[in-house]
Amino acid sequence: MKHEQTIEQRIPAAFSYPVVFSRKIFSPGHPALAALLHRARDGDEPCRVLCFVDEAVARSHADLLSDFRAALQAADPTAQLLHDPRPVPGGEAIKNDYRLIMEMLDTLLEHRLCRHSLVFAIGGGAVLDAVGFAAALVHRGVRLVRVPTTVLAQCDAGLGVKNGMNLHGGKNVVGTFAPPYAVLNDADFLDTLPMEHWIGGVSEAFKVALIKDARFFESLCAEAPLVAGRDAPAMARIVRRCAELHLEHLCAGGDPFELGEARPLDFGHWSAHKLEALSNYRIGHGAAVATGIAIDTCIAAELGWVSEPVRDALLAALETIGFRLWHEELGWTQGDGTLSILRGLEEFREHLGGRLTLILPEGPGQGRVLHEVAPASVERAVRRLATRAPAGKEFG
Ligand SMILES: NC(=O)c1ccc[n+]([C@@H]2O[C@H](COP(=O)([O-])OP(=O)(O)OC[C@H]3O[C@@H](n4cnc5c(N)ncnc54)[C@H](O)[C@@H]3O)[C@@H](O)[C@H]2O)c1
Ligand SMILES: [Zn+2]
Repeated sequence: MKHEQTIEQRIPAAFSYPVVFSRKIFSPGHPALAALLHRARDGDEPCRVLCFVDEAVARSHADLLSDFRAALQAADPTAQLLHDPRPVPGGEAIKNDYRLIMEMLDTLLEHRLCRHSLVFAIGGGAVLDAVGFAAALVHRGVRLVRVPTTVLAQCDAGLGVKNGMNLHGGKNVVGTFAPPYAVLNDADFLDTLPMEHWIGGVSEAFKVALIKDARFFESLCAEAPLVAGRDAPAMARIVRRCAELHLEHLCAGGDPFELGEARPLDFGHWSAHKLEALSNYRIGHGAAVATGIAIDTCIAAELGWVSEPVRDALLAALETIGFRLWHEELGWTQGDGTLSILRGLEEFREHLGGRLTLILPEGPGQGRVLHEVAPASVERAVRRLATRAPAGKEFG
């Protein structure tokens, strides 16, 4: 039957925000902050600002809070910092704590933030996700400036259009799509990262290189020893290229709000998410992604999509960097004797809605869709990782 009363509503919307790569962002006179405040200023109205800082970042960068205040003042003397930059717990804890969200909402509303005001979030991906969530709710979204302070956040988590909170044991099951007002990447923050988080985000660089940029994959393999040796210029190059590829994908991929069935940037993530959950989040996201892309690359090699030398180069480079690819959770089984990690396939399918769609590397440098994975193939991949465990872990 014809629906004569239907109006097909279309709302074209384009989003644009700067992603700055620099150092000493909060030194007086840095042009990035001045440009940002100039853009944010609403006629004669002074720009109103609040700032939330990852506690670990505030602790390890003793001058950060005073530098922030001074830099803001220098960038725009009329800008009003409504409250001292407020430390918030870093790491996954913040994404499980809705009381903190309420406190942030209270703070934003008490200080009468409007949709032209700026909220700065300085921290790792978890703090950016939680502060971003609170900022997206007040007045249906106040302007968020992300200042990512981990490798993972600078090359991936801090760049895109999502925030997220955990609930009922599910990671990122609550959240909104909310593009930031700006992203300010400052390489100097990375100096104070514990080794685990220094290497953590590099697995995302391998992920995106394997499915999008063969030359980047080669250079990552070559620079693995530099990463292990905490070479800051090498890390800056890696962060930059990884961020570019993520940003390009977000724009050119044509699916920023993730409605399509294929999610190329989720390569390796079906097992990574499951591994994180099985370990009760003892294994961090970056480490889990290293194992996840290792598993999927083993499967791609079996399919003949990548060569065995490429597979072996990936495994060796990840280990050189310091990733341990085998985790005992990979060997855990469920009641029916199958590997617990296999549940990750079904959970990933549920998360996507519709049919299972994985992207595996081909080449490397390209992604190729796979709709079905044989459990035996996953088991063989897991066995291969078991043989690489330092103690020559027996499996099965
Ligand atoms: N929104 C997205 O698109 C997106 C994408 C990927 C990942 N994520 C999320 O990001 C989170 C992981 O982020 P992460 O890897 O940045 O870890 P994280 O935010 O958990 O931070 C890791 C630890 O490092 C500390 N820290 C942060 N910066 C530091 C610094 N410069 N010096 C010393 N310590 C520092 C933090 O306090 C924390 O204890 C996960 O919750 C994940 O779900 C979000
Ligand atoms: Zn990831």
